Parts: sequence; C-alpha cells; structure tokens
Amino acid sequence: MSLDDATEARLIAAARAAAVHAYVPYSDYPVGAALLFDDGAIITGCNTENASYGLSLCAETVAVAKALGEGRRGGLVAVAVIGLAAGADPITPCGRCRQMLNEVAALGASDPLVLCVGEAEVRRVPLSVLLPHAFGPSNLA
Ligand code: THU
Repeated sequence: MSLDDATEARLIAAARAAAVHAYVPYSDYPVGAALLFDDGAIITGCNTENASYGLSLCAETVAVAKALGEGRRGGLVAVAVIGLAAGADPITPCGRCRQMLNEVAALGASDPLVLCVGEAEVRRVPLSVLLPHAFGPSNLA
C-alpha cells in the first residue's frame, strides 16, 4: 500500500499517542513509534526504562517485539518515530532499533519509509539509507 497524506498523518498520530504512555522516569524523554503494515494495521510502542538503566527499551524495539509477538513476519511499509521533548528536532532510530526494524522488513523484503517526526519538520528516510549493508535473517540461511 502507498503512503498517502492521510495514512501518514494517521501513523504520526499513532506514534504521538504511544509516546504518552512512555515509562521514562530516568531520562524524562518520551518516545513513541508506530509501525504500518501492508494490511493497514498499525502497531505502536513507547520507550520503557528500567532502574537498571542499561535494560531500558526504545520505543521502536518495543513496537517490533509487539509486532513479531502478534505473528507479523514482514509487510512493514512505514515507521513513524517521535520524541516529545519541547522543541524536538526529528529523531532517527538508534542503531539497535535500526537493526530491530530491519528484521521485520527483511522477512517481507520491504524497505520501509521511516518518518522522523519533529515539531516543525518530518524527515523521510528509507530504512536502507539508515542501515545500509544490513545483517539480516538471510545471512543465517
Ligand atoms: N530512545 C528511543 O526510544 N528510541 C530511539 O531511537 C532513541 C532513544 C529512548 C531511550 C531512552 O529511554 C530515551 O529515549 C533517552 O535516550
């Protein structure tokens, strides 16, 4: 499915709504992520921190785990990610999250468009640009 304006707006709204549930007592930096699949489904995640700081999970990673846990294996069309800090510039997924997103994308041979949502700007970058020469499931086949 293509990413028309209305769909893009719906995906961004879902990421923003997900960030509201972020558990961020340590960073106070809420992040929301929303994954759009080719059947129109949207699966969201928020960052989930831990008193043992290094165990904290990013929003995109939580969304990927939810998607895989619900049986999704590919079909990833687009991703929106948003940080809710005041005056926030667009944020791109961290390195680990790029790798996590690549797993779902690779299973369906898609190259999802990543919408990096800031207050004044949406930066649109294909995952393959964020993570070129990715290691993926096919390397282990
Ligand atoms: N964070 C995300 O959720 N996604 C990213 O792509 C970058 C960082 C979270 C991790 C931590 O809870 C907070 O933002 C500050 O680093």
